[in-house]
Amino acid sequence: MIRSVVRGFGAALPKRVMTNRDIEDVVDTSDEWIVQRTGIRQRYVAGDDETTSSLGAAAARAALENAGLTPADIDLIICATSTPDNTFPATAVSIQNRLGMTHGFAFDVQAVCTGFVYAVTTADAYIRGGLAKRVLVIGAETFSRILDWNDRTTCVLFGDGAGALVLEASEGEGTTADRGVLTAHLRSDGSHKDKLYVDGGPSTTGTVGKLRMEGREVFKYAVGMITDVVVAAFEATGTTADDLDWLVPHQANRRIIEGSAKKLNIPVEKVVITVDLHGNTSAASIPLALATAAGDGRIKKGDLVMLEAMGGGFTWGAVLLRW
Ligand SMILES: CC(C)(COP(=O)(O)OP(=O)(O)OC[C@H]1O[C@@H](n2cnc3c(N)ncnc32)[C@H](O)[C@@H]1OP(=O)(O)O)[C@@H](O)C(=O)NCCC(=O)NCCS
Repeated sequence: MIRSVVRGFGAALPKRVMTNRDIEDVVDTSDEWIVQRTGIRQRYVAGDDETTSSLGAAAARAALENAGLTPADIDLIICATSTPDNTFPATAVSIQNRLGMTHGFAFDVQAVCTGFVYAVTTADAYIRGGLAKRVLVIGAETFSRILDWNDRTTCVLFGDGAGALVLEASEGEGTTADRGVLTAHLRSDGSHKDKLYVDGGPSTTGTVGKLRMEGREVFKYAVGMITDVVVAAFEATGTTADDLDWLVPHQANRRIIEGSAKKLNIPVEKVVITVDLHGNTSAASIPLALATAAGDGRIKKGDLVMLEAMGGGFTWGAVLLRW
C-alpha cells in the first residue's frame, strides 16, 4: 500500500524575538504571570518585510534542502494558515511563486491551530489517492498581525513562524512497522465557534479583524478533545502510549500539553515542547516543533510520532506517523 513518508523538514522564524519582558512594556503583564500560566518565555514577531508567504517559502526551501530535492520535484503545495498574505490568492500559491514553480498545484487549508494536522491528512489522502507524489506541507502564520495589542489576555500568547515537511509516496506493507502516515483523525464542532475567533472578515465587516478568545472556555475543552483523537489514533492502529517515541502536540500552553500527556499516560520526557521558545504559532507550531526535535536528533528515522492539535472552531485532530 502507498504510504506518505516524511522525506524532509524545515522551519523559519522572523528575525525579531520578543521576550516576556518586552511585552511588559506593551501591556500590564509580567514574565512570571506568562511563564506560570502558559510556559511561554518568548515569541518571534514578523517585521514589515516578513509575511506568512515569505516565512512559509523559507521553511519550504529548508525542507527541500533537507530532503535533497528542488521545487521541480514537488507536485503539490498545501499551506495551513489563518493569517494569509491576502484574502486571495491562497498563500500556498504565493509560496509556489516564491519558489519559482509554475507547475503542479497549490492551495490553503484553514483549520486554525489544527491546520497542520488537517494539511498532513489532506496531503496523505492526495498521495494515497494517486493525485500527488511529493507534497510540500507547510504551516505558516503571522498571528502578530491579528492580535489586539491592547488585550493582555490574548497578545501575550501568540507568535509568528513557519515549518514544513516534504511528504513522499512510498510503498509500504500495510502494517504499523511502515514508515509514513499510519492513521489520521479529524474533528470539528462549530457550536464552539464564538469561543476563539477573529472579529472581522471579507464577508462580514470587510476588515481583517482581531483575535478574540474566551481563554478559560478553550482550556476547559482542550484536554478532553486532544485525548479523544489521540486515543482514536491508538485504537485504529492497535498501538498504545508505550509504543510511542514522541508526542508532538500543538504548542498552545504548557499546562494543556502536560495535562493531555498525563491523561494519556505519556511521560513528559517523550513530549516535544517548544512553546517556551515560539509561543503559540497556530498552524506553524507542530512543524516548528518537528523541525526542532528532528533537527537536534531527538526524532529519528523509524520513530513512532503522534501529532495532535486543538483550536478555533473548535477543530481538533491527531495524526500517527512513523518518521
Ligand atoms: C489564557 C489563559 C492562560 C489564562 O489563564 P487563566 O488561569 O485561565 O486566567 P484567567 O483568564 O482566569 O485570569 C486570571 C487573572 O489574570 C489576569 N490576566 C489575564 N491575562 C493576563 C496577563 N497577560 N498578565 C497578567 N494578568 C493577566 C486576568 O485579568 C485575571 O485577573 P482577575 O482575577 O483580577 O480578573 C488560560 O485560560 C489558557 O491558557 N487558555 C487556553 C488558551 C489557549 O491556549 N488558546 C489557544 C488554543 S489553540
